[in-house]
Amino acid sequence: MPGSLLQLTSAPPHQQLTVRVPAAGVALTGKIQVPGDKSISHRALMLGAIAQGETRIQGLLLGEDPRSTAKCFQAMGVEVSDLEDEWVTVQGVGLGNLQEPADVLDAGNSGTTLRLMLGLLASHPDRFFTVTGDRSLRSRPMGRVITPLQQMGATIWGRQGNTLAPLAVQGQALKPTHYHSPIASAQVKSCVLLAGLLTDGPTTVTEPSLSRDHSERMLQAFGADLTVDQAACTVTVNGPTTLHGQTVIVPGDISSAAFWLVGAAIIPGSELVIENVGVNPTRTGVLEALQAMNADITLENERLVTGEPVADLRVRYSQLRGATFSGDLIPRMIDEIPILAVAALFAEGPTVIKDAAELRVKESDRLAVMAAELNRLGANVTELPDGLEISGGLSTLQGSTVDSFTDHRVGMSLAIAALRAQGTTVVQRAEAAAISYPTFLATLEQVCAS
Ligand code: S3P
Repeated sequence: MPGSLLQLTSAPPHQQLTVRVPAAGVALTGKIQVPGDKSISHRALMLGAIAQGETRIQGLLLGEDPRSTAKCFQAMGVEVSDLEDEWVTVQGVGLGNLQEPADVLDAGNSGTTLRLMLGLLASHPDRFFTVTGDRSLRSRPMGRVITPLQQMGATIWGRQGNTLAPLAVQGQALKPTHYHSPIASAQVKSCVLLAGLLTDGPTTVTEPSLSRDHSERMLQAFGADLTVDQAACTVTVNGPTTLHGQTVIVPGDISSAAFWLVGAAIIPGSELVIENVGVNPTRTGVLEALQAMNADITLENERLVTGEPVADLRVRYSQLRGATFSGDLIPRMIDEIPILAVAALFAEGPTVIKDAAELRVKESDRLAVMAAELNRLGANVTELPDGLEISGGLSTLQGSTVDSFTDHRVGMSLAIAALRAQGTTVVQRAEAAAISYPTFLATLEQVCAS
């Protein structure tokens, strides 16, 4: 059956996914697991690399992005075992001991790799580093991390007035700072905290609202002297500090689970259980948003696993209602807004998403791309300067050819939308899913078949 529903064709270097939904429709059912959390996977590799002793990681995401992180740190003398192993081990070199790499470090498509790593590179005296990424990453703003690092005394050069990669870094002994970030960004916050590990004294970051706190949790677990004032959105790390290798069990990525939460919520007859999903409160905005839209989602078996809250998520189809989302909720669901837009198409009444201009500088301009591609499928989505307005009220989309624009979350969101389209939908450049979810298609086949 899935063979006729889904077809993947390859025209190297790209793939296209064809989705042909039978007239009777297709429901999503079964019990599934999603791959390891991308944010936690990056951090486990990076903290493992700079800690003393061995770090053992279970459930590491085998996507392209963590592979980029592993390669960069290997190029700086860190031993990382085979990423395909059930337990990946990282032999930490100790803080300040990353070696000068013999070649350019390539962060691929990964903003987290480049931005977090930059805090470490800038704070390694007497070493010189060059860093780049793919076409998407080379167009994304790096001034947001270079500015605070320069405030700490860093020497960094980049294209277009030190704002774009490739970047060159002359490592320095940095001085502590209190950085008031103009944006709620875990990448900015984490970059500055990592730079602060090697400085002499307290380095503080204050953000306008709370972004994901995986760095804070993991730095504390590795033994950093770090204090958090959540009410004030402020974190302080006291350097210099020594990190000790730990065991990290990576939970399933709620950003990947979001595709199934929305798929089951919008397709009549669906019921899915997604096991072992990270439900850190700084990431669960998508659950709150979908519940506010009348989605039927319950958390079961809630537990804490190596410092991160985890649960199984049960989702059943229900008629959704439109809603308005803005403010502090947005950073807590920033990566899920493309798939939330798909949910909103089938809700009664309009949905408005505001305060989300950050989406314009993700792997693609997600506001422009989602509006354009969903409209190709017959939706009525209006791009706002900082968000989307989605008409809702649809019972079906119209199959057409759409494009991921090489953005993993766009490609997967369009594949889920295609499940409620009449006729044939083709998603071009579907290979982008491998950035964060290499087994997406296999799971799609599984849930459609069970
Ligand atoms: C991430 C932070 C977010 C998110 C990205 C991963 C992280 O980016 O969009 O996918 O792991 O720190 P920003 O910090 O730029 O908002």
